[in-house]
Amino acid sequence: MNRTTTGIHGLDSLLNGGFVQGSTILLSGCSGSGKTIFGLQFLHHGATELDEAGVFVTLESRPNEIRQEALQFGWNLEELEKEKKLILIDAASSKAGLPTSESYTLRRGFDVSALAEEIYRAVHDISAKRLVLDSISGLGIRFDQPVEVRNAVFTISALLRELEITALFVSEIVHRDALSLAGVEQYIAQGLITLNLLQNNNSLERSLTIWKMRGSAHSLKCHKLQIDDTGIRVS
Ligand SMILES: Nc1ncnc2c1ncn2[C@@H]1O[C@H](COP(=O)(O)OP(=O)(O)OP(=O)(O)O)[C@@H](O)[C@H]1O
Ligand SMILES: [Mg+2]
Repeated sequence: MNRTTTGIHGLDSLLNGGFVQGSTILLSGCSGSGKTIFGLQFLHHGATELDEAGVFVTLESRPNEIRQEALQFGWNLEELEKEKKLILIDAASSKAGLPTSESYTLRRGFDVSALAEEIYRAVHDISAKRLVLDSISGLGIRFDQPVEVRNAVFTISALLRELEITALFVSEIVHRDALSLAGVEQYIAQGLITLNLLQNNNSLERSLTIWKMRGSAHSLKCHKLQIDDTGIRVS
């Protein structure tokens, strides 16, 4: 199986070399746990170090907020967009009913099949090899209806598999004991990683856990995770 490095410092050795190319990984964690930064680092690494173009689908934050968030780590997304190494799909504006000047967006309002079409167009335009969808919680489906969640996520992940894209699906943990919303990961993802932010005495501690990586040996430990101005580091 071909592997592709993640760009997250310290993570590839825990994954037996990186993500399996073309696989879908669910990245789950609470608010502020580092999911968006992880996704941006993965795409920036692919675009700058590996000649793997990437697509970032934003369902909650508007694209300029994402560009801004990346810049604090020195990741200039605008430059990568100009070089056709990255496309941001603005699915947030249509969901919020706001106008947008972005080139990749859903003009006729939000629905899952329109999003799948735009993903197809973006991936095709720059021959993308990586994709981040941030987040599936923003797909606008009722998460108390597992079948709806499964169908929506299944549509998109089937498309990505056909396109042979290595994909990260970001998902928020709402309940302390739930690994991800609605247990979607059981159905679609080949891998599951959680980013944890747990209270220990008087402070919060960050960690990363790999729960599953089909077809791959991986670490089963809880690894310390740090965020600094170079991005995420796992040890
Ligand atoms: N330059 C930095 N140095 C250290 N930590 C940082 C830096 N920038 C951001 N952080 C930390 O990263 C957190 C935000 O990470 P991120 O946006 O990836 O979270 P998230 O999991 O996507 O959250 P949400 O679910 O709310 O979108 C901040 O709350 C902060 O704790
Ligand atoms: Mg986020």
